[in-house]
Amino acid sequence: MPSSRVLLFLMFLGFAVVTKVQGGIKIFDVTKYGAIGDGRIDNTKAFLRAWNDACKWDGNSGVLIPRGTFLLGTITFTGPCKKSTAFQIKGVIRAPSNLKRMTNPDQWIGFRYVDRLLVNGRGTVDGQGDSAWSFNSCAEDPNCPSLPISMVFNFVTNSRISGITSVNSKNAHISLYGCHKVSIDNIKITAPYQSPNTDGIKIGDSKGIKITHSSIGTGDDCIALLSGSTNINVTDVTCGPGHGISVGSLGRYANERNVHGLAVRNCTFRGTTNGVRIKTWASPQANVASGFTFENIFMSNVENPIVIDQMYCPHGSCNQKITSNVQIKDVTYRNIWGTSTTKVAVNFQCSKTFPCENIVLQDIYLVHNGRDGAATSSCNFVDGDSYGTQKPPSCL
Ligand SMILES: *[C@@H]1O[C@H](CO)[C@@H](O)[C@H](O)[C@H]1NC(C)=O
Ligand SMILES: *[C@@H]1O[C@H](CO)[C@@H](O)[C@H](O)[C@H]1NC(C)=O
Repeated sequence: MPSSRVLLFLMFLGFAVVTKVQGGIKIFDVTKYGAIGDGRIDNTKAFLRAWNDACKWDGNSGVLIPRGTFLLGTITFTGPCKKSTAFQIKGVIRAPSNLKRMTNPDQWIGFRYVDRLLVNGRGTVDGQGDSAWSFNSCAEDPNCPSLPISMVFNFVTNSRISGITSVNSKNAHISLYGCHKVSIDNIKITAPYQSPNTDGIKIGDSKGIKITHSSIGTGDDCIALLSGSTNINVTDVTCGPGHGISVGSLGRYANERNVHGLAVRNCTFRGTTNGVRIKTWASPQANVASGFTFENIFMSNVENPIVIDQMYCPHGSCNQKITSNVQIKDVTYRNIWGTSTTKVAVNFQCSKTFPCENIVLQDIYLVHNGRDGAATSSCNFVDGDSYGTQKPPSCL
């Protein structure tokens, strides 16, 4: 048969066996497109064909990844799609451990321009990071080769990510950029505490994002809120190990946008290096970070439970004379209790040129879990008030 007829025949076969209605959505099973879950065969083409058929299906559709271990190379699932599109992960999707087999140095699995995307299932996305982490220890250095983020959502709207597990990403696990109204619930993210730059969820230039009922333990931030993030709620999240929940770092690059509106509520931090942290570089880049609430938070053996650091400089090569031009204001810490493994449990080091404004501490009970005395707080260039219980005594 001429190849176009073969293709037509295959497409016909595809429709005949692939599609199956389940709860009102048409299912496109990747194994019906030739994917094999043996952990060895590369399934990139099969996944892409299944996505393309689901995406253009004139009705609600779903790509199904059944049980099995599916090796997958760099891939981008692009919309817009006709109707809502699910991506149901029941098995394991595994990245190549060899970086040479990944064609994009920045991302592994991408979703772009998709409205009403649902990524769900009880399956696992395995980034195979252990092979790459040794290269990643230089990642704060701009000349460092970049490593792929496991799941990158760009311009995804009205969507939900639910129930999945992400393990051992080479770089961050999940990144949201340019997203609007995305909810993330009941997910689990894990990587070893010493794995470099394995942030849990990074959010930039996105608004209306909700993260609930999830557990995140990695070698870097559990959640990081970067430039241009607004209206973000984090509720019922357990963080640890890792570097805590961070706003920033901000002020490192030109043209960063303001960060406004983050509420972290009913969360637990276990054995993290930081609890809730706002960090900005001492640099000329101007910006405003405002409207944050950190409420009902339990800290268990956290090194630095409450931190504002406007001299963030992780590798110590910053000009000490420059101050941060990021204005931090309207931040409330309410009902935060537990243990700190260092003495300074509340630490506000703001910018000399842009002091922090309206920082509020209410009902804080943090005990130093160590032998060298009671917990303390430290304030520099910060204006605000404290109410209710204050242990350590407030420095505001
Ligand atoms: C976050 O919570 C506030 C209430 O504290 C609510 O007004 C806002 O709509 C919520 N945003 C999202 C994205 O859930
Ligand atoms: C946090 O927990 C308290 C007490 O269980 C509950 O009343 C409140 O609604 C929760 N807050 C959120 C944002 O879920």
